[in-house]
Amino acid sequence: MAEDLYIAGESKQEKYTSLLPQIQALIGDETDLVANLANISAALKSTFGFFWVGFYLVKDGELVLRPFQGTVACTRIAFGRGVCGSAWKEQKTLLVPDVEAFPGHIACSSLSKSEIVVPIIRGGEVIGVLDVDSDRLNDFDSVDQEELEKLCQWIASFA
Ligand code: SME
Repeated sequence: MAEDLYIAGESKQEKYTSLLPQIQALIGDETDLVANLANISAALKSTFGFFWVGFYLVKDGELVLRPFQGTVACTRIAFGRGVCGSAWKEQKTLLVPDVEAFPGHIACSSLSKSEIVVPIIRGGEVIGVLDVDSDRLNDFDSVDQEELEKLCQWIASFA
C-alpha cells in the first residue's frame, strides 16, 4: 500500500491544513505508539524540512528520547532542564526564536538556532513533548504553535 503524502498549498498554514488529516489517516487505528511517533516525525520533517523533529516521553521522572528525524540528540532531559524540560515543567508551549538567548538551552547540535517545544498533556499531566528545531533564527510562529498544539492534543488521545 502506498503511503505518500500530498501536500497542497504554499504557505505554512496551508501545508499544516493539508498535512494533519493525512497524518491521522496514515495512522488510522494503529495502536503502536513508537510506530506512530516515527511516522509523525517523518511526515513533519519531509513536509517542512525542519532541521530536527522528534519526541521525548516522560519515563521514570525524566524525558527520554523517542522517535525523531535529524541528527543524533541527547537521550535524557531532566524536569525543568533546557527548553524541553521547561515546557514540561510549565505545561505550556515554548517558542524560542534564538536558542542562545534561552537560559539553560541544551545544544544537541550547534546548527540549531530556533526551537518550539509543545507538551503532550493527558489528563492534566505532561506525558511527553514534541520538539522541533530549525537551523534558522526565529523560524517558528503562532501558526506552528497552534497547529502543533492541535497535533499534540490528538497524540495525547492515543499515547
Ligand atoms: N534543545 C533541547 C534539547 C533537545 S534537542 O534540541 C533535540 C532543549 O533545550 O531542551
